[in-house]
Amino acid sequence: MTMIDTTRRQFVFAGGLGVAAAVLPGEVYGKAVKKDEDEVSPTEDLMREHGVLRRILLVYGEITRRVDAKQEIKAEWVTSSATIVREFIEDYHEKDEEEFVFPRLQKAGKLTDLVTVLLAQHQAGRRVTAEILRLATPAGLKGEASRKQLADGLRSFVRMYEPHSAREDTVLFPTFRALLSERELKKLMDTFEDKEKALPHGGFEKMVEEVAKIEQSIGIYDLATFTPA
Ligand SMILES: [Fe+2]
Ligand SMILES: [Fe+2]
Repeated sequence: MTMIDTTRRQFVFAGGLGVAAAVLPGEVYGKAVKKDEDEVSPTEDLMREHGVLRRILLVYGEITRRVDAKQEIKAEWVTSSATIVREFIEDYHEKDEEEFVFPRLQKAGKLTDLVTVLLAQHQAGRRVTAEILRLATPAGLKGEASRKQLADGLRSFVRMYEPHSAREDTVLFPTFRALLSERELKKLMDTFEDKEKALPHGGFEKMVEEVAKIEQSIGIYDLATFTPA
């Protein structure tokens, strides 16, 4: 018997005793399911949406750097970024958190204080985004006072969403994930997938493309430029 055979035999033996109880990827209740290319777990889905948000925070950081350095700013950098924040993050990603994640944790009595803060931050974020969009006009970007006001808004948004998304990724989502049965997980995965497909301006892939275009226009797309010499 080869070593591989032995290993396989041991695995089958352990499985037979119910030791290998973990559900393998692409498998639900021991029944193989067709692996859909778009299929990602609900928490991975939310985390990669945070990736889009984090790339917008980098754009916001570059815009504030330009304000401080008294360099040119195009209104479209601000409006395109803030529109993605409004439509994809605030009206979609955060709505999913508010509809599916937070209530489930509150019902289980888990992380309730954290959920209260996160909810308040969603509200605050929406107010800051409205202010950013109000200031992002070609005329508004000419005046020194309104440029400074815009930079303050962008800075406060970045300052809040860096810790907000990091806490959700490392504390909120793992705790939420642990509460879900495999059946609930699959159901939520399908719900998120359907909701994303119904988005009028495109889902995750489209948003990544849009953010990349903004990064190219503002000059922060080339990842290698961030490597220390
Ligand atoms: Fe959130
Ligand atoms: Fe989030």
